[in-house]
Amino acid sequence: MNKKTILITGASTGIGKTTAQYFAEQGWNVAATMRTPEKATGFEAFTGIKLYQLDVTDEQSIARAIDSVIKDFGKIDVLVNNAGYGAVGVFEKATKEQIQKQFDTNVFGVMNVTRHILPHFRANGAGTLINVSSMGGRLTFPLYSVYHATKWALEGWAESLQFEVRQFGIRIKNIEPGAIKTDFMGRSMDVFSKPDLIAYDTYEAIATKNTEESYKSAPDSAVVAKTIFKAANDSSYQLRYPASGQASLFLFLRRLLPLGIFNGLVRLAVEKGFKN
Ligand SMILES: NC(=O)c1ccc[n+]([C@@H]2O[C@H](COP(=O)([O-])OP(=O)(O)OC[C@H]3O[C@@H](n4cnc5c(N)ncnc54)[C@H](OP(=O)(O)O)[C@@H]3O)[C@@H](O)[C@H]2O)c1
Repeated sequence: MNKKTILITGASTGIGKTTAQYFAEQGWNVAATMRTPEKATGFEAFTGIKLYQLDVTDEQSIARAIDSVIKDFGKIDVLVNNAGYGAVGVFEKATKEQIQKQFDTNVFGVMNVTRHILPHFRANGAGTLINVSSMGGRLTFPLYSVYHATKWALEGWAESLQFEVRQFGIRIKNIEPGAIKTDFMGRSMDVFSKPDLIAYDTYEAIATKNTEESYKSAPDSAVVAKTIFKAANDSSYQLRYPASGQASLFLFLRRLLPLGIFNGLVRLAVEKGFKN
């Protein structure tokens, strides 16, 4: 049987890296793409993984990487739009550049890579496009307004796109992780800062502390890699896959409860200790 090939963006660390390793263990050809492959570690033991340079904000690097992967493996069966990061904090402290960069990566980056892969998928009469969205693409927490806006954008975009491409045998799948232990909360995070603006200080400190506290019990990225594997092998046209127990529970409650009640629970958790 011919091996299937998956291309993953943002595979240097976290969910992308674990997904690359997991698919290689299952016998897939893996094109692990990243901004700086020369710095990559942890792939040496996997003969099925090949590294490629790809920055989702750079069209040339996208075209070059996709062409190389097709030359090396014959075709691409699955694309995972995983690259992304969080630009977070009090919205009033965000600069225009920080907001622009967040959308350039999390939204326009995904659209860039997708525009480049669709002709290939159409020509093959098959292809699965998997977006690493977030449970935060369908519900919200304080201090994440810009990040949420990007993930909500992905959810609406994917929900519409699936109508157009289904006729070509192309499946769209959004993976919706809850909190996952990766570099997301560390070196990848862009925190809005405006030292002169002190009006939000108490709120910001409390909400940040409570959010960080909740991340301590987050699972590692294996749960997401396994969900991506399930979606990649699912021949149905199911669009959404919550990834982690937390994501399943929170998305269930968000559907079940009126928004005012759900957001009351969010405030109880994230604003615990804040007196208004
Ligand atoms: N961790 C969570 O709690 C969580 C929850 C829900 C959804 N997610 C989503 O999961 C995805 C992966 O994040 P993660 O948690 O695995 O965090 P991570 O460990 O920080 O990984 C993020 C990856 O994205 C890459 N990246 C950033 N900008 C890029 C660009 N312009 N072009 C190509 N790659 C770029 C980073 O590359 P460099 O190494 O070059 O910086 C890194 O490989 C993101 O889309 C995130 O929004 C995460």
